[in-house]
Amino acid sequence: MKKNYNTADAEWEWYIGQLYYQLIRNLYKKKIKCVVELAPGFRHKIADALKELNFDGVIYVIDYSNDVLNYIKRKYEEILPNAKVICINKKFEESLNLIPKNIDLFLSNHSIDDLIISSYSNEEYNEESNNELLYNDLLILWEKLYHDSSSVKKITLEVVQIFKELFTNKNIGLVIMSQYKSNSYFLGKSNYMDEIIDHCFNDIKILTDTDDTLINKLLNFYPFGKDDERYNGKYLTDNTQNAKHWIAGIVNEKICTKNNRNLKETL
Ligand SMILES: C[S@@+](CC[C@H](N)C(=O)[O-])C[C@H]1O[C@@H](n2cnc3c(N)ncnc32)[C@H](O)[C@@H]1O
Repeated sequence: MKKNYNTADAEWEWYIGQLYYQLIRNLYKKKIKCVVELAPGFRHKIADALKELNFDGVIYVIDYSNDVLNYIKRKYEEILPNAKVICINKKFEESLNLIPKNIDLFLSNHSIDDLIISSYSNEEYNEESNNELLYNDLLILWEKLYHDSSSVKKITLEVVQIFKELFTNKNIGLVIMSQYKSNSYFLGKSNYMDEIIDHCFNDIKILTDTDDTLINKLLNFYPFGKDDERYNGKYLTDNTQNAKHWIAGIVNEKICTKNNRNLKETL
């Protein structure tokens, strides 16, 4: 049967949401009043996680797609009836002045690949327009980018710089971001994209104090029970439930306050 890419897989959303829930409840002990989420797409993992926490604060959601935000507003208000959902229809780099100074949680699931490739192609990609044809185009684009090392350097540095600007200018209680290996269509098909994304993700991770040993301990659980076939085994322990694919910690102010020239050397 052909997979329908337009529909969020509710079980997968819930599963990844459980990982965020586990990390948030162990790493952030204060009342959560303000959350910022970057690039949700037509997905609701973060809302699922916040629901577990009975979130009743304000969530600012940044995405440059108006269609995505229309979906998010409706879906998040349904999942989080006591929360206020504020949509920011801007590019990430244009959104920093539109979010508050004090942020309890900054969350973003699997957005680094999208930030890189949309910058390279100058086109909007979001899940609504996804189909296998588009995925094939994306694979070709990633390969092209891989062989264009000056663009890789320029774009990934720009992406890291936006996070650095965000982390420097806001008071953020906890940053959680994941970048596990892409969905089943891409899995094993492109080492090109993996290499570029991993590098960029790790450069952002350096800007935070993420304790991989602690994160692995916190992620070592079975959301669906120990015997569940789909959510058990090596694929998940190597991928979604492995600290190498997560940023979860406070901002490392020492590294973030280094000036831009030094940052390049630090990274
Ligand atoms: C596919 S989603 C990311 C994955 C999703 N969060 C999940 O959990 O599955 C990517 C989203 O990023 C948005 N996006 C891409 N580049 C962006 C940018 N520079 N600024 C803001 N949004 C961007 C797209 O509109 C899309 O909605």
